[in-house]
Amino acid sequence: MPGRSLLDLDDLTSSEIQYLLEYARRFHDDPPPRTLLRDVTVVNLFFEASTRTFTSFAIAEARVGADVVALPPGSSSLGKGETIADTAITLAAMGVRAIVTRHPESGFPYRLAESFDGHVINAGDGRHAHPTQALLDLLTLQEEFGKVAGLRVGLVGDIVHSRVARSNILGLRALGAEVTLIGPHTLLPEAMARDGVRIVRDFDAVLPELDALMLLRIQRERIASAVLPSLEDYARNYRLDARRLRLLAPHAIVMHPGPYNRGVELTDDVFAFSGWRYAQQVSHGVYVRMAVLDFLVNGVRETAGRG
Ligand code: NCD
Repeated sequence: MPGRSLLDLDDLTSSEIQYLLEYARRFHDDPPPRTLLRDVTVVNLFFEASTRTFTSFAIAEARVGADVVALPPGSSSLGKGETIADTAITLAAMGVRAIVTRHPESGFPYRLAESFDGHVINAGDGRHAHPTQALLDLLTLQEEFGKVAGLRVGLVGDIVHSRVARSNILGLRALGAEVTLIGPHTLLPEAMARDGVRIVRDFDAVLPELDALMLLRIQRERIASAVLPSLEDYARNYRLDARRLRLLAPHAIVMHPGPYNRGVELTDDVFAFSGWRYAQQVSHGVYVRMAVLDFLVNGVRETAGRG
């Protein structure tokens, strides 16, 4: 029977998400023994550039004691015409138990998981999903506010091309946050509204209402045709700058999954803002990835979710 995989956050129940956040939070004060994944071989199969996510998974895997092989992009036999199924069979035959994968095609990890007799973790597929990013964002909110339920969280920018936004919307709704999506029609179609998810075009007007604001990068590599009159036009309406920071509530925080484009979705004023939580997000990434690896491979730890 194939192992359990994490392809998007809807693979987890709300209580499993909550469990993972609690478990990850514990690693903050109390690093786990480097034996949690002893004798477990993990392959990192990244087909797209990545600094944060790749490094974060590599550090998490080392800290839980897994044996790790990283296949650099371009070096796998998929480039020689081998099918995804054949790659999966080959890796499983070598005793690989888990594959962490990033791919520019939406759905790639799903196809891999169908033929791989082990665990697949989606580290980002096309514009579709990025579940561990959403978990680290949820952990950042939970650490800041004590709970995610009832928080008013805004996501601004290139929502339609953003796997981070998609997974975050699932996670935020699962834990009971109120989601506001903010952006122009071309980057945020009306159809993305649903129960608990509203769409707002007027950035300035909504800023005072938010507990947390997540900035997103304009995904230039995923925008086939021009969907924006110009970056200047985007910046005028949706860039977070000194004036807009003053419109936020005093307790509000600002997040960004990185990489950020200075001058496009934010100005340098954001880095000096007391509520800027980028570094906390990055550090939480290692904790949630350790928690996810242990959860998928070894299941729920009886003591982890308590206290
Ligand atoms: C994001 C990604 O690659 O999905 N970055 C990340 O993983 N922290 C966001 C982006 O590329 O803009």
